[in-house]
Amino acid sequence: MPGPLTKLNPNLEPILTAPYPFDLVDANKKKAREMFPEGYVIDFGIGDPTDPVPELVRKRMAAATEELKCSGYPAAVGDGDYLDAIVGWLKARFGVDISTGQVCATYGAKYASFHIPMFFVDPAADDVCIVPNPGYPPYADGTLLAGAEPFYLNISEATDFEPDLSEIPPNVAERARVFFLNSPHSPTGRMLSLEKLGEVVGFCLQNNIVLVSDECYSELYYGDAPHSVLEVPQSAECAIVLNSLSKRSMMTSCAVGFVASRNPELLGPIRSITRKSAQGVANIIQAGAAAALRDQVHPEQMRAVYAERLQTILPALEGVGCSPVRPQGTFFLWVKVPEDDTSLGFSERLLFEKGINCMPGNLVSKEWGGVNPGGGFVRFALVPPVEKVRQAAERLQTG
Ligand SMILES: Cc1ncc(COP(=O)(O)O)c(C=O)c1O
Repeated sequence: MPGPLTKLNPNLEPILTAPYPFDLVDANKKKAREMFPEGYVIDFGIGDPTDPVPELVRKRMAAATEELKCSGYPAAVGDGDYLDAIVGWLKARFGVDISTGQVCATYGAKYASFHIPMFFVDPAADDVCIVPNPGYPPYADGTLLAGAEPFYLNISEATDFEPDLSEIPPNVAERARVFFLNSPHSPTGRMLSLEKLGEVVGFCLQNNIVLVSDECYSELYYGDAPHSVLEVPQSAECAIVLNSLSKRSMMTSCAVGFVASRNPELLGPIRSITRKSAQGVANIIQAGAAAALRDQVHPEQMRAVYAERLQTILPALEGVGCSPVRPQGTFFLWVKVPEDDTSLGFSERLLFEKGINCMPGNLVSKEWGGVNPGGGFVRFALVPPVEKVRQAAERLQTG
């Protein structure tokens, strides 16, 4: 008799059997915490802000709790006030005119990016979704569950840490349904110029591909502010933009974001299925997210905080023979380890000898075309408080 597992959707198998990168890192971190005194391990491993949600947002959520008494289902595609806040923010930040009917509330960029391939992939066809490598894993996992194949577009020193469209063979471009773009890019911190975004839009239009632009780090940058794909006029036809309050406003515990598209053929099904499948982001969280989007002060303060952390750790890493890639955005630092070392070897030595935890780069990227572009790199999430970053820098400097 067939066992219960034979009832699983076969598309799940490669997702369920692949090692979860955080498992190894978590196990190592646990071991190190047992080795060292309490609080000694400094954790740059996971990209989860440790800074509090801004007070004005917390206060708004508290007030909304009393106003709404936590009763009633939320509007699944987004409460009117939250949608207004999104539209106002997109206009002020990127100068683009989007209407409230062209956006939809989501549980954040992870949820949205994982589910989007299911809207555009034909599981009976030989479809492909193009994902950056290294890149955010739900892009590829959502692709697999939808019944398509990920094509990993390597992002490395050789491509100047940008997606190189000439690396996409014509037979892949023909089969591609979705192109995942992420600028500023996790983990390299690289952000794409308006010209480069235009080039990707042109490629997608030419090949009839839906461009999914994950812009969840758009407010974390060190120099010039990043552009949105929405600023490219031709993107109106092919692009869906994702953004989130997780990184901009430290609202990871709230899981709230939005998708925006000017093409009703792309957004309409997302809004429709959201209404059929979800009760929506909690009212009080939508109220907090609206308040967050209307405040431009706290993102500016956070940019200064990340810049200080970056300046604190950069020279210390260079001092131990590493070559950090100067990030233009995100809160990640992508660091090339010394020539004779490996991602895992370097990160484990740092953890077990100095109590500094970071993410081995080969675990956040795939071997593809005979190379793993994350090999020889580690990723630092600049989320610990600056005093901790300073301690980490001192530990690196003291042999
Ligand atoms: C590129 C990228 N997209 C999305 C997310 C998650 O976003 P959210 O918290 O909105 O689900 C992350 C979080 O690390 C990320 O790095």
